[in-house]
Amino acid sequence: MKVKKFKPLGAELTNFVFNNKTTEEELTKLKKIFLQNSVLILRGLDLNAKNLLSIARLWGKPQKHTNFSGIEGYPEIIKIQNYGKKFHTNDHWHSDVTFEEKPPDITFLYALEVPLKGGNTLFSNQYLAYECLPQKIKDSLEGVRAKHSNIRILKMMGQDSKKEKYASHPIFRIHPETNKKALYVTEAFVESIEGMGEAESSRILKDLYLESRRTKYRFEHRWKKGDLVMWDNRCVQHYAIHDYGDETRNMYRITINT
Ligand code: SIN
Repeated sequence: MKVKKFKPLGAELTNFVFNNKTTEEELTKLKKIFLQNSVLILRGLDLNAKNLLSIARLWGKPQKHTNFSGIEGYPEIIKIQNYGKKFHTNDHWHSDVTFEEKPPDITFLYALEVPLKGGNTLFSNQYLAYECLPQKIKDSLEGVRAKHSNIRILKMMGQDSKKEKYASHPIFRIHPETNKKALYVTEAFVESIEGMGEAESSRILKDLYLESRRTKYRFEHRWKKGDLVMWDNRCVQHYAIHDYGDETRNMYRITINT
């Protein structure tokens, strides 16, 4: 197994194949590399839905998405596809499904078909975003929580707003496995800061969003068919760039809780 590390997050593994011969020892090593680098990339895999699901199960319990149905026979796998100009499902900074009380810990995205050019995914390191905040802001927002909601997804999908889900999460979240603090506010889902007036909440959130996505915290993944990328939603935000018009881009996505 060879590890190529990127800055400020991400690692690509080579000379390693995920299959039913993957040992416990290899998996433990992989999990360690994942926790240290927050995004893990494996290239050139030839997976079907069943193989992908069994890889995800090595890491935890696959989850069903609240708003998107799974593919036939695999309710935990959603297909991310290009809807062209109609709407862009993931063309915004977010961590996955934060409007759930227990959002998914890890996301697996497998590239079935990719455009000739574009369609990259950006990842932003939220440990660094937290670390680099001014101490005054860290102190004033310590212990403060934000309200996350899926209302924007419902509107985009033309679904009933009565299906709205809310969750409250700390603005600075402690990663349960690394014990490090990360910034945890996502523009796609956060509605407001709890216990604060609307104007103050919007002003602070705007600043935090800008902090969370600074270029110096980012890694950009350029997809090839057969890539499997995993990211840690507890300390990473991502953004799927929609710059490929009506070209085909098909991905399988599974989220898990560990
Ligand atoms: C996602 O936001 O979950 C998918 C990202 C992508 O399609 O690159």
